[in-house]
Amino acid sequence: MLTDNHGRKINYLRLAVTDRCNLRCFYCMPEDGINWLSRSELMTYEEMLRCCSMLVQMGVVKIRITGGEPFVRKDIMKLITNLSKLQDLDELTITTNGILTAPHVAELKALGVRSVNLSLDTLHPGRFFSITRRDEFANVMTTFDKLLKHDIEVKINAVVMDGKNIQDINPMVELTRHLPVSVRFIEEMPFNGNGHDYNGLKWDYLRILNEIKSTYPDIKKLDDPQYSTAYNYQIPGHKGKVGIIAAYSRTFCGTCNRIRITPDGELKTCLYDNGVLNIKDLMRQNIGDGDLKDILLNAFNKRPKDGWEAERRRTEKAGIHESMATIGG
Ligand code: 5AD
Ligand code: SF4
Repeated sequence: MLTDNHGRKINYLRLAVTDRCNLRCFYCMPEDGINWLSRSELMTYEEMLRCCSMLVQMGVVKIRITGGEPFVRKDIMKLITNLSKLQDLDELTITTNGILTAPHVAELKALGVRSVNLSLDTLHPGRFFSITRRDEFANVMTTFDKLLKHDIEVKINAVVMDGKNIQDINPMVELTRHLPVSVRFIEEMPFNGNGHDYNGLKWDYLRILNEIKSTYPDIKKLDDPQYSTAYNYQIPGHKGKVGIIAAYSRTFCGTCNRIRITPDGELKTCLYDNGVLNIKDLMRQNIGDGDLKDILLNAFNKRPKDGWEAERRRTEKAGIHESMATIGG
């Protein structure tokens, strides 16, 4: 069993496979002027597979593929296929924006992917365009339908943004009436590729909950599964569930079981740190598995106790300049 210096179990890896994306969600990245990683800076699939299989040997039982948008990276299904064969990995999941995903749904199901997180902040095509700067709403909905048809669990991730999609909160809750989906509302975080534009959090989890209660006063709190980052709810009689993720308020750090690897191989032991070591660089210096494991264990023994401590330890002077596209959520 893998644990950190605060006694928390580490068993979940989020692997961001690319920093590129076919959307430009304003809370994630600027419209242009983005410094994309070059091909040589990206981890290769062989490198990803090597570190995933090592981490699985060390105790990781769940891997989520994220980005950027995973499906814009060439041959991503090859990596997913290889990861699906890792013995001792219980769960392989994906976070996608759904634009290019539909053609792969049947194969994902066949590989044993049981759950997919779909990023979708609105059910209104015009607001979708104003949030993502791309006209792709219909393709996302095609993927959504197809996932449901293949009986893959769907969790919709909606970032809640003042002045942008507040009117979508309750219509998205309404989706849960007839569909077996989890709709999860996420507090907006400062990872928009430009720390200066983050004006603090206007919609925290309590305000989001109150907004839902105004339309669904009988909403019920559910027991939260172990390691859940969401507060989970259900409207009585509805098929699906509602979640609220206090991503900015950071109320879930006490049970945090997750580590992250960025597309260029940085290990993050907290969402809010800016990388504690570079696994790709070590692998390219021909480090052996044993030494690499020791270095990883050492990093797991220096984890900040929560996202506030991680943020204080960051090295930049003003603001967080990272984009969620390099963190993987
Ligand atoms: N704040 C909160 N969530 C974000 N995401 C991307 N950027 C932000 C942000 N600034 C979400 C996406 C996706 C997940 C990977 O992260 O909507 O669902
Ligand atoms: Fe792409 Fe996701 Fe960032 Fe939107 S939030 S630009 S879908 S990586």
